[in-house]
Amino acid sequence: KLPSKVKLVDVGPRDGLQNEKQPVPAEVKIELVHRLQDAGLTEIEVTSFVSPKWVPQMADNAQVMAGIRRQGGVRYSVLTPNMKGFEAAVESRPDEVVVFGAASEAFSQRNINCSIQESIERFAPVVEAARAKNIYVRGAISTAVGCPYEGEVAPERVELVARLMKQIGVQHIGVADTIGVGTPRKVQAAMEAALRHYALDDVSGHFHDTYGQALANTLACLEMGIWQFDTSVAGLGGCPYAKGATGNVATEDVVYLLHGMGVDTGIDLDKLIDAGKYISDFLGRKPNSRAATAILTK
Ligand code: HMG
Ligand code: MG
Repeated sequence: KLPSKVKLVDVGPRDGLQNEKQPVPAEVKIELVHRLQDAGLTEIEVTSFVSPKWVPQMADNAQVMAGIRRQGGVRYSVLTPNMKGFEAAVESRPDEVVVFGAASEAFSQRNINCSIQESIERFAPVVEAARAKNIYVRGAISTAVGCPYEGEVAPERVELVARLMKQIGVQHIGVADTIGVGTPRKVQAAMEAALRHYALDDVSGHFHDTYGQALANTLACLEMGIWQFDTSVAGLGGCPYAKGATGNVATEDVVYLLHGMGVDTGIDLDKLIDAGKYISDFLGRKPNSRAATAILTK
């Protein structure tokens, strides 16, 4: 039995654009957010408050947040790896902040320049400060099935990070296949590890589509009752610290899958495809979504 309703978080403006080499002006990012909310997305991951030396594309974080016309019922989230990021983010009034750790030590070092244990120590005050301000806290667990530096990652590693995140008060965790190497049974095992510390309603999937497995992995999670997923309009993206990894599964493709199975998303697929076309045109490429391509060429 599938969940009757699914919530998608479009991470395109953040995960999707963070790795773009060409400059994307703040106005274009803002317009993309507007188009996503007009299409019915109720959760949008807008930007990240990280070092502009590490991720120059997100240096306009405050400008983008300030430019968004906020719509009732829509929640806007931002990444905050440490207190410096959180303090800057608070000025932008996010509804949700995301601390991001990893299930592999090597990826933690490359991505956020510290060990897993140190990352938890950096996150703890962020979680405390956010919750004191009633800002919801999500935790992302990168490299939950595979790591570009360490290879396969055991579910026990995910369980450990989930436990540590739970201990410091992270309210929801996203299990991320950063480099898209996972296949359904492995992803289910990672999810089961997360579910030892978090309720079904507090766990989501974040699947990059490098090996074309993300839709299959999404369906495998739906069959476990997981109903929240991060997806990226037009399949934008990749992580700067995971070379060769492609974007998240395209929001359009997941919406097509869900609507085809009678699962409600509240998203207007045609408007969503227009949003994906808008940003893809700007970037000078075709949307990386099979459903969008099929519908646009019909
Ligand atoms: P660090 O060098 O360890 O931090 O970086 P530090 O505290 O030693 O500070 C060093 C310098 O950075 C200082 O500046 C700080 O002020 C500055 P300097 O004195 O040299 O001029 N700094 C900051 N500036 C702005 N915002 C901040 C901030 N913190 C310190 N928040 C840090 C640690 C995490 C900041 C750094 O490693 C970083 O920015 N990494 C980039 C991480 C990132 O954005 N990765 C991509 C997003 S995660 C992802 O894509 C995965 C995900 O999608 C899930 C999945 O698919 O797996 C979520
Ligand atoms: Mg990602």
